[in-house]
Amino acid sequence: MATGARRDNEGVEKPPSALAQYFDTWYAGMAETPVKDEIQQRHLGLPPGLLSTSLLSWDGMAEVTETLQLSPGATLLDLACGRGGYGLEIAARTDARLVGVDFSAEAIHQARQQARHLGRTAAFHVADLAAPGLGTGSAGAVLCVDAIQFAPRPDAAYRELRRVLAPGGQAVLTCWEPLDPGDERVPDRLRRVSLRTGLAAAGFTDVKVRERASWRAAERSMWEEAAALDPGDDPALQSFRNEGVRSLGTFTLVRRVMATATA
Ligand SMILES: C[S@@+](CC[C@H](N)C(=O)[O-])C[C@H]1O[C@@H](n2cnc3c(N)ncnc32)[C@H](O)[C@@H]1O
Repeated sequence: MATGARRDNEGVEKPPSALAQYFDTWYAGMAETPVKDEIQQRHLGLPPGLLSTSLLSWDGMAEVTETLQLSPGATLLDLACGRGGYGLEIAARTDARLVGVDFSAEAIHQARQQARHLGRTAAFHVADLAAPGLGTGSAGAVLCVDAIQFAPRPDAAYRELRRVLAPGGQAVLTCWEPLDPGDERVPDRLRRVSLRTGLAAAGFTDVKVRERASWRAAERSMWEEAAALDPGDDPALQSFRNEGVRSLGTFTLVRRVMATATA
C-alpha cells in the first residue's frame, strides 16, 4: 500500500485520519481484483481504462465535461479524485491541465500509475478536500464527483472551491441530497448535503442544482448486481456487496443531483 504525506492548509504534514486510512485499505483491496471495476464499468458504460469509485456514467460525464467549459491549457482541479479516472478522461477531451487531489495516498498512487499506463500527463497530490494546495484563482474549473459529502466541514470545502477558481470559472459537483433532511434512515453524511446552500454561502453566483433522475437506472442496476454477489473472502467484493445492500436500502430516500456554479 502506498503511503504519502497529507498536509494541512499551512502545508504542515499530518498523519492520515481514520477515514483516509479506511479509504487507503479500500483502494488497496480494489487493486487486487478486477471484478468490481468490471461490474462498475459495465453498468456505468465506462471504458476499461476509466477507474471510477462513484456513480457517474459515461453519459453523465459528457454533460459534466460540457458544463465545465474548459479551454485548452486551463487547469482542471479534480477534488477527491480517487484513482483519477474522470479527471484524466475530461482533461484528454479538453486539453486541460489536470490536478487531482485526494486524501487517500493509495488512491493517488493508483491514479499516478493509471496516468502513466494511459500515457497522460497529470499532477496528483495527497491533500484534503478543504486544502488542495492550489493558489487563489489558479483553476479554470473544479470538479468534485460524489465526494463532497465526506468533507468534515462542508462550508470550508465550498469556500476553498471558490477561492481556487479563477473569476468566471465553473464548479461542478455531483452528489445525492436527502428528500427529507430529518429522515434518520438516510446516512448522516448525506443528510447534511445541501449544495445550493453551501455554494451560495461560499459566494458563488448562478448556482443551479438539477435533479438527475435519468442517472439512477444505472446506479440501481449496479447496486442490485453488487448486492447479489457472492464475495467469498475477497474484502473488496465484500465491501462492494455491503455498499450495494446499504445503498438499495436508502435508494428512494435521496435524489441524485448535479450542481453547477460560477466563481
Ligand atoms: C466515492 S469516492 C469518489 C472518487 C472519485 N471522485 C470518483 O468519482 O471516482 C470518494 C473519494 O473521496 C475521497 N475523500 C473523502 N474525504 C476526503 C477528504 N476530506 N479530502 C480528500 N479526499 C477525500 C476518498 O478518498 C475517495 O477517493
